[in-house]
Amino acid sequence: MPKEPLCIVGTGKVAQALIKNLKDHYLIHISSPSEDRAKELAEKYAINYIPYRGPLPCHRVIIVRRDSDIEKTSEELIRFAPFTSHIHMSGMLSSQVLKSEKKCSMHPIMSITPDTSFKGVLFAVEGNIDICTDIIETLGGKYFEIETEKKALYHTALVFISNFTALNTLMGLALLREVGKLPPEIIESVRNLAYRSIDNVLKHGKDGLTGPAARGDLETIDIESSLLEGFLRELYILQSDVIYKLHSGGGDNSEKDDSSKI
Ligand SMILES: NC(=O)c1ccc[n+]([C@@H]2O[C@H](COP(=O)([O-])OP(=O)(O)OC[C@H]3O[C@@H](n4cnc5c(N)ncnc54)[C@H](OP(=O)(O)O)[C@@H]3O)[C@@H](O)[C@H]2O)c1
Repeated sequence: MPKEPLCIVGTGKVAQALIKNLKDHYLIHISSPSEDRAKELAEKYAINYIPYRGPLPCHRVIIVRRDSDIEKTSEELIRFAPFTSHIHMSGMLSSQVLKSEKKCSMHPIMSITPDTSFKGVLFAVEGNIDICTDIIETLGGKYFEIETEKKALYHTALVFISNFTALNTLMGLALLREVGKLPPEIIESVRNLAYRSIDNVLKHGKDGLTGPAARGDLETIDIESSLLEGFLRELYILQSDVIYKLHSGGGDNSEKDDSSKI
């Protein structure tokens, strides 16, 4: 049976990972306003190149450009190929930014490089999900549906889990370097400590939080915060305060409302 044509617009990390994982299953066409890069990738992966401003030989297009370019790209594509269905992979934007009649967003919960395999990766999907779920299945991924209006909230949750956890680790490492010369094993110890702390919270919720604020050890918090300056001090105090309130059930009503979510 001939392969179904599938158009990919974009030339970055996700575009390349998709090409590698899908080219045995679909007849992939690549396009981008950055023509030279698209032609280069077409040659590298032995797929077809199609000019950006022109008709598309596909019913479905996956737009994997920068988030800020997705809406404009969908608008431009629809002018030359009005009957195509559009899909994007942004975490924050919903399918509503797309201009096609049928539209879907499919966001993989994963950090992606050109070598990423999507096997076992979980995708959040919303919109006309029937236009993207078979692609996820072909990639070997899994999916769950979210409401279009909840897309930005979904991404905010991931920012807390991914970015802020990573930022705290980065700041902790910077402080450890001030302690003195560190052995190479420190990286593995930090990794274990971070993984174990996350695992405790995944298993036990807020009761899995440990450390001075969870114990109500206010003297330790005073001493440690006095060693810090600037945003490090602010973040230490703010996060300790939140953990303390979660454990003591304290705070005014608005804070109680927030902590009741956790
Ligand atoms: N990477 C991830 O971990 C990840 C995870 C989940 C979702 N996403 C989503 O996937 C979409 C694409 O993200 P991405 O990570 O593929 O972005 P990216 O690698 O930064 O590529 C985005 C665009 O930047 C341009 N570009 C990339 N590398 C370039 C280079 N070496 N020289 C010149 N231009 C270059 C290309 O422009 P043209 O568009 O003009 O070709 C490309 O399409 C976004 O919606 C993002 O939110 C990414």
